[in-house]
Amino acid sequence: MPESPDHFDVLILGSGAAGLSLALRLPADLSVAVVAKRELSEGNTLYAQGGISAVLDAGDSVESHVRDTLIAGAGLCDPEVVRTVVERGAENIRWLLDQGVQFTRSPATGTSGYHLTREGGHTHRRVVHAADATGKVVETTLVDRVRQRPGLTVMENHIAIDLLRSDKMGEKGPRRCVGAYLLNLMDGHVRAIGARFVILATGGASKVYLYTSNPDVATGDGIAMAWRAGCRVANMEFIQFHPTCLYHPQAKSFLISEAVRGEGGRLLLPDGTRFMPDFDERAELAPRDIVARAIDHEMKRLGIDCVYLDISHKPADFIKEHFPTIYERCLSLGLDITREPIPVVPAAHYTCGGVVSDHHARADLPGLYAIGETAYTGLHGANRMASNSLLECLVYSELAAEDIRQRMDQVPPIPPLPSWDESRVTDSDEEVVVSHNWEELRRFMWDYVGIVRSNKRLERAKRRVNLLRHEIREYYSNFRVENDLLELRNLVEVADLIIQAAQHRKESRGLHFNIDFPEPDESQRKPTIMIPDNYVPPSSS
Ligand code: FAD
Ligand code: SIN
Repeated sequence: MPESPDHFDVLILGSGAAGLSLALRLPADLSVAVVAKRELSEGNTLYAQGGISAVLDAGDSVESHVRDTLIAGAGLCDPEVVRTVVERGAENIRWLLDQGVQFTRSPATGTSGYHLTREGGHTHRRVVHAADATGKVVETTLVDRVRQRPGLTVMENHIAIDLLRSDKMGEKGPRRCVGAYLLNLMDGHVRAIGARFVILATGGASKVYLYTSNPDVATGDGIAMAWRAGCRVANMEFIQFHPTCLYHPQAKSFLISEAVRGEGGRLLLPDGTRFMPDFDERAELAPRDIVARAIDHEMKRLGIDCVYLDISHKPADFIKEHFPTIYERCLSLGLDITREPIPVVPAAHYTCGGVVSDHHARADLPGLYAIGETAYTGLHGANRMASNSLLECLVYSELAAEDIRQRMDQVPPIPPLPSWDESRVTDSDEEVVVSHNWEELRRFMWDYVGIVRSNKRLERAKRRVNLLRHEIREYYSNFRVENDLLELRNLVEVADLIIQAAQHRKESRGLHFNIDFPEPDESQRKPTIMIPDNYVPPSSS
């Protein structure tokens, strides 16, 4: 197969809802490359279940969606961003329909013609979905469209290592992002790829925790790369733990959608007692931070391994029609959810913080954009409301496309790029270091920086992460790069950012709960913006 070019107008790192939507929205005369660590479809988007929130029903309103988002975000959302995203919701759903996405239809739940489900924090039915496999339907439709788009280069099985900055290439003037180093995972070859616009659409970082709903690619690469390149990162303490992941020895990372609770599912203790009404008047439909903490509390109080989510009081046909994926998956494990409750536990699910991205999706380095889960836009505040993230992916891909379209004639050519230097490294003779550190990192993040934190636990985590960073940095400079090492290097960076942000916030708010500061403190009601040593404020041009 001929090698792909090494210069593009736009280099999109990541092929989830954010990256692919952007690729499809860019002008056809731009040369565009989409890079994915595995096959194009793999990433969080593929596994999304519940749906996408948007104001589609005549009985609903933008005001209501904005209000619910602000409440869930516990005082830390940027209201202007929330309004922009919510106002663009319906048109973005129409864009998906134009791409060929088929959502579940039903005249019974309002005026939209689509079945709208409910999820935690939403005061209306406003989540459009494709049964319980929304992500699969969205992702596979977008993948098909991207593969058909002429002039678009797809680079699967390539992992971006680091961003390329113009000042490092000797270019005079304000520094900017001019490309990235990519490792081809099939042949081990590293290439410098130049681009006038580089997009981080690399998804979240939940693999930093031992238990997660996320697939393996969610290692926070974009956040770590942006940080190393001198971009600010914000709100990393706000990691969302989804309350209900399947608890079963053979089920790795399988989510039981919040829509199950939206359609009447109840959370029960092993003896059948319903407990959520004791924690919040919204009971099972309280925002996720509250439900996850309640489950954690009950599990610790009773010393139990899981709680149960029961939807079996609903007709079997209703369950099979609305939740076919969950029904089939559970049945394959010997669990009939039409007859018995589902064992569930919380697991790391969503990274609310990320690369600081402005109202045009621009990150701090000129030429660099951050969209989707990897970005911090201000939409989610201290807690993301369910189904707002796919919406954010769509809206920010639209904003980025608009901005690139306006700026594409203003960007100077890319300077000559340096080749990857492997002259001082050898093949690793101790790969166990990587696998051991990987395991250790994810375990102490779960134990010390999880749903409930304390000063002492955070200090312990900080000590350990410092040791690991040192060890991995040394390893990275001596040995030839490969996938696990690159991901571990990024995970350690991200873990450090999470711990630092959690230590900085001396209150409890939204997803961040510290038993030493159990209440919110109004004087701390601001985002945690972290500034790297090599940060240079972007020029206002
Ligand atoms: P992703 O879809 O995660 O894609 C990331 C891409 O980046 C992948 O292509 C990956 O290969 C690539 N990548 C990563 N690192 C590199 C690198 N170094 N080099 C090259 N490529 C790289 N949200 C909702 O709104 N509604 C839901 O119903 C919903 N359900 C969910 C269910 C599950 C189980 C999970 C895990 C998440 C769910 N979410 C949901 C959250 C939502 O799916 C994600 O936030 C969203 O899909 C993120 O999209 P993205 O495009 O930013 O990233
Ligand atoms: C779910 O279906 O419960 C996930 C929804 C989300 O993460 O937004």
